[in-house]
Amino acid sequence: MKKVVLDNYDDVCRAVADIYSRQLREKPHSVLGLATGGTPIGLYEELVRRYNAGEIDFSMARSFNLDEYYPISKSHPQSYDYFMRENLFDKINIARYSIPNGEADDPVAECERYDGEIAAAGGIDLMLLGIGLNGHIGFNEPSDTYPIGTYLVDLTESSLTANSRFFGPGEHQPGRALTMGIGAILSSRSIVLMICGANKAPIAKRLFEGKVYTGVPASFLLLHPDATIFLDKAAAGA
Ligand code: GLP
Repeated sequence: MKKVVLDNYDDVCRAVADIYSRQLREKPHSVLGLATGGTPIGLYEELVRRYNAGEIDFSMARSFNLDEYYPISKSHPQSYDYFMRENLFDKINIARYSIPNGEADDPVAECERYDGEIAAAGGIDLMLLGIGLNGHIGFNEPSDTYPIGTYLVDLTESSLTANSRFFGPGEHQPGRALTMGIGAILSSRSIVLMICGANKAPIAKRLFEGKVYTGVPASFLLLHPDATIFLDKAAAGA
């Protein structure tokens, strides 16, 4: 695990965009893991800027997103499917993208199907992660045990409250999600975690206490041989 502290959010976005640019230059057929939330928005803006400038090409790449609310329609503005199309996929030339299907009738079958699709693609080359205020990655909430594969999870109060800012007053917010399991995340050949903003300083502090435990799901990344954790100064408490 490598820890990198940069001055501000824009610097983190540019540094992570550099990693995506290099990945696609070296392996145009890369399988990319992608995340949602507020944190990657600046990264996606930078990737779109580079795409428009002819500096990066996604035409042979494919991607898998970490998670999706369940149930939710793909046309719901707060679905992660919608988020990804709005912020990235409709603005670049990615060959193919996959997101857990929040519209599936049978969520268990959908999880198995999603794992099969990731396996058939050869696993993930470069996985992007953000972190929840409670240390979650994807929607792997603090818990005693973790399924290895994709699963249907009940969201915790902390995540529901943190994400309620995206939903309008009175708008229904799904209490469950389909999330990639710890297995696919940790099997990724390379992982980048972005931690930005002063509100993430307390969880960043707990993450770097030097122990691995399910109370902070992101702490499993400390065991990964090629994980880089980028923080801005605000999150690093510097
Ligand atoms: C969300 C997503 C995570 C994300 C995290 C942090 O709910 N499931 O993938 O990393 O919570 O979000 P944000 O970047 O908005 O703080």
